Amino acid sequence: MTDANQQGASPAPQQGHSIETMQVEERRFPPSAAFAAQANAQPAIYDRDFDELWSTEAGRLDWFEPWTELYSWNPPQAEWYIGGKLNVCHNCVDRHVLAGRGDKVAFHWEGEPADEIVPITYSDLQSRVVLFANALKKLGVQKGTAVAIYMGMVPELPVAMLACTRLGAPHTVVFGGFSADSLGDRMVDMGCTVLITQDEAWRRGKPVGLKIIADEALELAPNVQTVIVAQRTFAPVAMQAGRDVFWADACAGLSDDPASCPCEPMDAEDLLFLMYTSGTTAKPKGIAHTTGGYLVGAATTHHYVFDHKPETDVYWCAADIGWITGHSYIVYGPLANGATSVLYEGTPDFPAHDRWWEIVERYGVTILYTAPTAIRSHMKWGAEHAAKHDLSTLRLLGSVGEPINPEAWIWYHEHIGGARCPIVDTWWQTETGMILIAPLPGVTTTKPGSATKPFPGVDVGVFNEAGEEVGPGGGGYLVLKKPWPGITRGIFGDPERFQDVYWSRFPGVYFAGDGARIDEDGDYWLLGRVDDVMNVAGHRMSTIEIESALVSHPAVAEAAVAARADAITGQAIVAFVTLRSGFESSVAMLEELRNHVAHVISPIAKPANIVFTPELPKTRSGKIMRRLLRDVAENRPLGDTTTLADPSVVGELQDRAAGENAGEE
Ligand code: WTA
Repeated sequence: MTDANQQGASPAPQQGHSIETMQVEERRFPPSAAFAAQANAQPAIYDRDFDELWSTEAGRLDWFEPWTELYSWNPPQAEWYIGGKLNVCHNCVDRHVLAGRGDKVAFHWEGEPADEIVPITYSDLQSRVVLFANALKKLGVQKGTAVAIYMGMVPELPVAMLACTRLGAPHTVVFGGFSADSLGDRMVDMGCTVLITQDEAWRRGKPVGLKIIADEALELAPNVQTVIVAQRTFAPVAMQAGRDVFWADACAGLSDDPASCPCEPMDAEDLLFLMYTSGTTAKPKGIAHTTGGYLVGAATTHHYVFDHKPETDVYWCAADIGWITGHSYIVYGPLANGATSVLYEGTPDFPAHDRWWEIVERYGVTILYTAPTAIRSHMKWGAEHAAKHDLSTLRLLGSVGEPINPEAWIWYHEHIGGARCPIVDTWWQTETGMILIAPLPGVTTTKPGSATKPFPGVDVGVFNEAGEEVGPGGGGYLVLKKPWPGITRGIFGDPERFQDVYWSRFPGVYFAGDGARIDEDGDYWLLGRVDDVMNVAGHRMSTIEIESALVSHPAVAEAAVAARADAITGQAIVAFVTLRSGFESSVAMLEELRNHVAHVISPIAKPANIVFTPELPKTRSGKIMRRLLRDVAENRPLGDTTTLADPSVVGELQDRAAGENAGEE
């Protein structure tokens, strides 16, 4: 990178090491008058008092005993709805049936082999949950028994979760793509004595032997005494006598009458579930969520952010229940609100690239919630697949999981939303349990790439290195200054780590680990994890900004950026790029992309190297594994690759990185 390159192109470094952003997104999308008029959230919602809002919103739930104190706060320990008693299954299932809504569809379940479509009404769901809860009870599960669940996206998965909550048994759902080691570690960490799994799961047209993987995991977790096996493909599986029982056999002869298995009254602060998430060390963290605050948070945000209307909407969160997004926005939030949802078992490209759009058309989906990585896959496959289907029922789109680059936002808006649907870009985390930053459709003017405003009753801020709050126009670290109902109550069994990871950087303030900028309008721009922030020639730059610039080039389908050490500039930028079909990698293409980045952001943001790759390494939840890319960029031995969706991607990437070097100026 020459000095000449930098002259005049880069803004002066800001004081206090705030994160610099140079790309300016000027497009604005105000809500239409028609949407605004009918929206659940009206502008005055932002004027609501913190205590009033969270007290009133708790009224969306049925409480067996009222809470007496809204919250208490002894950092890092929050408690909410103190003294309240409730049951999650009652709120998500039984009360809807009692209110006469039993015939309403809770889930339109669709198997990956397209011949299977099962509408599950709230009454059906109640029967299935009660029956299975009775089976669990008979097998010794009671209030407090820790239950592991390792399944694909079959109806038995939400049924198993709800049956646990009915009995007051905390669960941990382990994503069906995880390895035996990951499952085993989680079962040991939580002290699970029961595992619920299935014979095989369908994935991209092939059966995946979950029971075989579970058997391996069980060798690591000798405390598990009972294994319940749902039959999805009816493939023969090894069953260990005295330990393993088929789902149907466990339920045989038992009652599905709700009176036979009443909902256990739980304290608002009783453990509801653990969701394991990876941190900076090899050991995953068991993020704990409790009952009352979590459910109020999930239901309230689902209602307002998705503008959900239970009578008319067909809602589809296309995540996997094995992640927090699926917990809060497929299972608990939507069911608490009496939603009709789509539950789809398989991948978006089976048997063809238009599978999702076929589903939207079939059920008349009105609200679709997905991740930028999925949107970019669809971009790569081409808009013609969506164009084949009638998507006119859609009225709102959502995004979650990573910053959405403006080009993907615009593509989603035009090709899926028909330029008429508001897009809610929702920022939150496993730890937050619920959406914390997002537009309110009908109120907020959206900007492609910005998650816009904190949810009402959520106290967000941006701090600089010194722990001083930066105002509009500043950048730094995203923090939460006050607790919210869905905040994690800790890392299971490891209070020191909890304190250390989230509460030690700025005492008494929740450190989210993300960089953010607030623009002059007070809108938040999430800049990725702070460990993804690069420092090139004294300029702090976010990987996401450079990725956005690359993806805004017509030849680029997907891009990920990492830094490697450089003697002159401190760090140098390495970009990993997947081209759209019809474009070839070449030296000319490489120069074109570097110049494009220089043009869109600044010459200082120009990648030193570009590695063309047919596939980026991703976790099974679809997140690009930047840590691995950094290792590849640095030419280091690779760390743990077990969470990769496709481990073969990495070897090829290393070869390409070694072979293709853009050279430096
Ligand atoms: C990132 C997923 C920008 C962020 C619900 C966060 C986002 C991490 C967004 C949590 C968004 C999630 N814009 N970044 N809309 N949503 N993130 O725990 O870095 O799987 O810290 O929770 O994803 O990921 P997790």
